[in-house]
Amino acid sequence: MTAPTPRSFPPGFIWGAATASYQIEGAWNEDGKGESIWDRFSHTPGKVERGDTGDVANDHYHLWPQDVALMKSLGLQAYRFSISWPRILPAGRGQVNPCGLDFYSRLVDALLQAGIQPFVTLYHWDLPQLLQDQGGWPARAIAEAFVEYADVVSRHLGDRVKQWITLNEPWVSAVVGYLHGRHAPGHEDLGEMLAASHHLLLGHGWSVPVIRRNCPGAEVGITLNLSPHHPASASYADRAAAWESDGALNRWFLDPLNARGYPADMVQHYGQPMDFVRAGDLQAIAAGLDFLGVNYYSRHIVRSSVVPEVDNEPPTVFRSANVTEMDWEVYPEGLYELLGRLHFDQRFPAFYVTENGAAYADALVSGRVHDPARLTYLREHLLSAARALAVGVPLRGYFVWSLLDNFEWAFGYSKRFGIVYVDYTTQRRVLKDSARWYRRVIAANRVLDPPAPRLARKK
Ligand code: FCB
Repeated sequence: MTAPTPRSFPPGFIWGAATASYQIEGAWNEDGKGESIWDRFSHTPGKVERGDTGDVANDHYHLWPQDVALMKSLGLQAYRFSISWPRILPAGRGQVNPCGLDFYSRLVDALLQAGIQPFVTLYHWDLPQLLQDQGGWPARAIAEAFVEYADVVSRHLGDRVKQWITLNEPWVSAVVGYLHGRHAPGHEDLGEMLAASHHLLLGHGWSVPVIRRNCPGAEVGITLNLSPHHPASASYADRAAAWESDGALNRWFLDPLNARGYPADMVQHYGQPMDFVRAGDLQAIAAGLDFLGVNYYSRHIVRSSVVPEVDNEPPTVFRSANVTEMDWEVYPEGLYELLGRLHFDQRFPAFYVTENGAAYADALVSGRVHDPARLTYLREHLLSAARALAVGVPLRGYFVWSLLDNFEWAFGYSKRFGIVYVDYTTQRRVLKDSARWYRRVIAANRVLDPPAPRLARKK
């Protein structure tokens, strides 16, 4: 007899949804906010699809009371949002903008009043442009600037915010921003990428004790984007390629956070001087975490490109044809595999899935948005999370990406990730079917079946 698939979540499991400041707030130059690298990047022609910008986005800066009411109506227990650094410190350092602090303070109060736990991400990619002008993440001084910023925010909100995430996906900040050039600030430089990744981690490590000091009893973590890497065949070449790709995405961040230093094979692979690593840095980066935030969307299947086919084996692992609008393979088992690896191979005390979700081409028809593919995506990933819990992974909560359709970086508004549809001309919010289902899942604390298809009504 096979064991039944676990569907239930433990009491106290936290159900949430996530957003990020630049993707939803708009009000890009209101109430003393400084320019961010994403303002500069999206205002540069050719950088974002269709010339979209975050100038208005979901206008959450003004509509937040209704967004909090929406979250309450869904029964959300937690809300993960990020703080716009240039709203707080318009020049990156120094002068604090009280309007910026007030905005987040009011938001936190309203969330708590609605019974929703705020999970604050300090950095979700909207760096003050003035700090970029001084060298950005590749310059060491930025790690100190980040600590100052973390200090200001955690002193101000620490009496009410008990969960802190220092950085969102430092891999994306470093690699997509400084090597691939597809994100702000749009550079393509391997040396800059490596220095940026180190200073991101250093800023994180230095800020952990500061946040802890300012917010007694708070939990502090970091969020990484992680994926399993599967070799396309069992050949040595494909396995080596998969391990290297795992090194670039996963191990480059996990190992230093786990006091293992930078992975030696990857240091050799990059072949660049690591002279930006100074005495004491690695100890600071390994400051113990209370949890690791895991953003999971898909897996990678890796094929060696350097070895001729004759030295390799024909591929045996193939991507399924089931992909989202981002062209990311739907691979729910990957979440189980990833959480298992993180728990059994690393030493993180707890985990939250801080992002998981899917973009599909949704349409608003007669006031409804039917999104069965997203509902299935979420459902299958939750089943994977339940399996991970059943084998002992200390998973504490799950956040859907995203609460609302929003500005999807270089794709602009062309990709809809929300469980709530946003009509950008009227700013009207409409619950998609996935949101209605998620509300029931939260109430039941277990994975529910999708609603039965409704029979066509007779005329
Ligand atoms: C993650 C980002 C988030 C969103 C999703 C789709 O990498 O953290 O802002 O863009 O992908």
